[in-house]
Amino acid sequence: MTSHSTADLQRYLEVALKAADAAGLLVKERFHSAQDKLVQEKSAVDLVTEVDVAAEKTIIGMLKEAFPEHCFLGEESGGSAGEERLSDEPTWIIDPIDGTTNFVHTYPFVAVCIGLAINKQTVVGVVYNPVLEEKYTAIRGGGAFLNGKPISVSSAPEIGQAVVSTNIGYGRSREVTDFMLGNVRVLLEHNVRGLRMTGSAATLMCDVAMGRLDCYFEWGVHAWDVSAASIIIEEAGGVCISPTATSAVTDQLNLTARSMLCGPKAIVEALFPILNKGWSAEWK
Ligand code: IPD
Ligand code: CA
Repeated sequence: MTSHSTADLQRYLEVALKAADAAGLLVKERFHSAQDKLVQEKSAVDLVTEVDVAAEKTIIGMLKEAFPEHCFLGEESGGSAGEERLSDEPTWIIDPIDGTTNFVHTYPFVAVCIGLAINKQTVVGVVYNPVLEEKYTAIRGGGAFLNGKPISVSSAPEIGQAVVSTNIGYGRSREVTDFMLGNVRVLLEHNVRGLRMTGSAATLMCDVAMGRLDCYFEWGVHAWDVSAASIIIEEAGGVCISPTATSAVTDQLNLTARSMLCGPKAIVEALFPILNKGWSAEWK
């Protein structure tokens, strides 16, 4: 198996940053033109715009030119069939806009997400919000940065002092609704300091990485929602697990497990045993 040095990771990051800038420009140019976004509905609550498609094409084009031997997994071009085929080969995992509903509604929590996974673990990540001009970056072993400045997760000692974030996602069936509300109930019963839902998995995870939120969890997420942000959290001193994992912090993150729980280790360990975990990928 080819090994990848820190210099290699740095080179991958440099190209990813150029691709994120190019895609970010497309997102920014169209962000405020509410009438000008062509919306298609994957379902009534799951949207895609022509900007999602164009931004993903730009990102994949630039990365493929630099790294033709790598694999690619993009939300708009691969879909969940591609996600299931994630292999150990270097694979770029791309969400051109995380927070498409926010983009359509001109709510500024949107991000271009580019992660590189090797052996199914993310080693390079860029999460770029071009509206708020926040660019998060990390490579494995190199720390995490917001606009070039080092960041770290919060030091909240327990969930009573934690502002926790989640999203409801796209399911609207009775099972999904009961499950999601069940976890909101758990948080309230354990008296969390606050609960936030802003509709972009990646930007919430980066809020956790830089310490302005203490924790994030969600069921139903895909690899492209969480890959890039997962390395940013880990390099900021936090942990990322799939809440379906058997052990809170020892299992390696499974990017295709469709679930995420992340934050400082103490908060993740406190939330892991109390969250309801019986979510099913079959639910609509
Ligand atoms: C979605 C957003 C949303 C989350 C969903 C994601 P998209 O990504 O992150 O907040 O609840 O689970 O799929 O569709 O905007 O790229
Ligand atoms: Ca998306």
